[in-house]
Amino acid sequence: MNIDGTPTRTLRAHPAQRLIDIIDQTRLPHALHWVRVTTLDEAAHAIRAMQVRGAPLIGATAAYGLAIALNDDASDMQLQHAIAMLGATRPTAVNLHWALARMQAVLAPLAPEMRAAAAWTAAAAIAEEDVAQNAAIGQHGLGLFRQIERNSGKTLNIMTHCNAGWLATVDWGTALSPVYAAHDAGLPVHVWVSETRPRNQGLLTAWELAQHGVPHTLIADNAAGILMREKQVDAVIVGADRIAANGDVANKVGTYLKALACADNGIPFYVAAPRSTLDFACAEGTAIPIEERDGDEFRLVHGVDRHAAPSALRQLAASEAVANPAFDVTPARLVTAIITERGVCPASRDGLLELYPEEARA
Ligand code: MRU
Repeated sequence: MNIDGTPTRTLRAHPAQRLIDIIDQTRLPHALHWVRVTTLDEAAHAIRAMQVRGAPLIGATAAYGLAIALNDDASDMQLQHAIAMLGATRPTAVNLHWALARMQAVLAPLAPEMRAAAAWTAAAAIAEEDVAQNAAIGQHGLGLFRQIERNSGKTLNIMTHCNAGWLATVDWGTALSPVYAAHDAGLPVHVWVSETRPRNQGLLTAWELAQHGVPHTLIADNAAGILMREKQVDAVIVGADRIAANGDVANKVGTYLKALACADNGIPFYVAAPRSTLDFACAEGTAIPIEERDGDEFRLVHGVDRHAAPSALRQLAASEAVANPAFDVTPARLVTAIITERGVCPASRDGLLELYPEEARA
C-alpha cells in the first residue's frame, strides 16, 4: 500500500536491533507517527491501547512482541510469562492467540539459547504470510466485484464498516484488499465508509483509501440503512476478528446491524478474512468472547485542537453509565459468502471445510 506514493507496511521489523517500529493508530488520521517498540511491556501496551489494531496486525505484533520478550531471557518461565501477558491484551481477535500458539509450537521445543533468533524468524514468517494471504483475498474478492460490476454497468458502490484495510494488517487489508485490487485493475469503485463509533475506525479507512487514491465518502453509522434503501450500495464487505466453525462472524460492533439491513434490501454481505481468523475450535458465535472496553472511549471524543495537538473533549460525565461492547456477532445465515486466501465459500461448516479440508480431521 502506498503512503504519499511510497509502498509502506504497517510494521517495520529490525531483527538486527531486535526491535520493531509501528504506526501509532491513535494519532491517525491527524498525524502519521511511528513508535519504536523495544520491550514486552511496550508491545502489550501497543495492542491493549490500540496503537496497533485489527485482528491480523494484532497477531503479527504479538509475534514480534514475543520475540522482543526473549531478547535477553529466553527461559521457559519468560516464554510462558510473555505468552500469558500478550494473550491477555485483547480477547476477541483470535489471530492474537493463533499467532502466540504458533510461536509457542516453534519455540517451546528449542533449547533456550536457540529461541531468540528462532522467534524473530517465526514472527517474520507470520508477517509475510499475512501479506501473501491478504493479497490472495484481494484477487478472490475482485472476482466477486467484477461479477457485480458487469451486472450493474456503473460505478461499484461498496460499503464497509470499521477498518479492515491496510492499517489492520501488515499489508493490503482483508475487506479492503479487493477494493484496492478493483481500483488498481481500473474498475470504477467508490466506498461508503461508516464512521464506526465509538473508536471511529472509519476515519482510518478514509485516510488509507485517500492515500491510495480510492474515491470514498464517510457516513455516520446510522446512515447505512437509508443508502441501502435508496439502492446506493451494491455490496457490503467487512473483515472479522473471529469466525466460528459454523460461519458465525465476530467483527466490530455495528456489523450485525449492517448485515440485517443488507438482508432486508437484497444486498450481498461479504466477510473477508485470512486463515488466522478462522477458529475451528469454536463451534458457534455464542462462544466467542466479546471485549468490553473502557467507558471513557464513549464518554470522551478524541481529535486535535486548533494547534493540531491531540485533544479530548468530554461529551458525558464520568458518572454516566455506558456500555461499550467492542464487537458483535453476525449469524452465518446473514453472510452471503466468506472470502479467504483459498477462495470464496458459503458461511457454513461445510463451506469452510471445503476450503480447509485438513480441519475436518482436527
Ligand atoms: O477494535 P479493532 O479496531 O481492533 O477492531 C477491528 C475490526 O473489528 C476489524 O474489522 C477486524 O479486526 C478485521 S481487520 C482486517
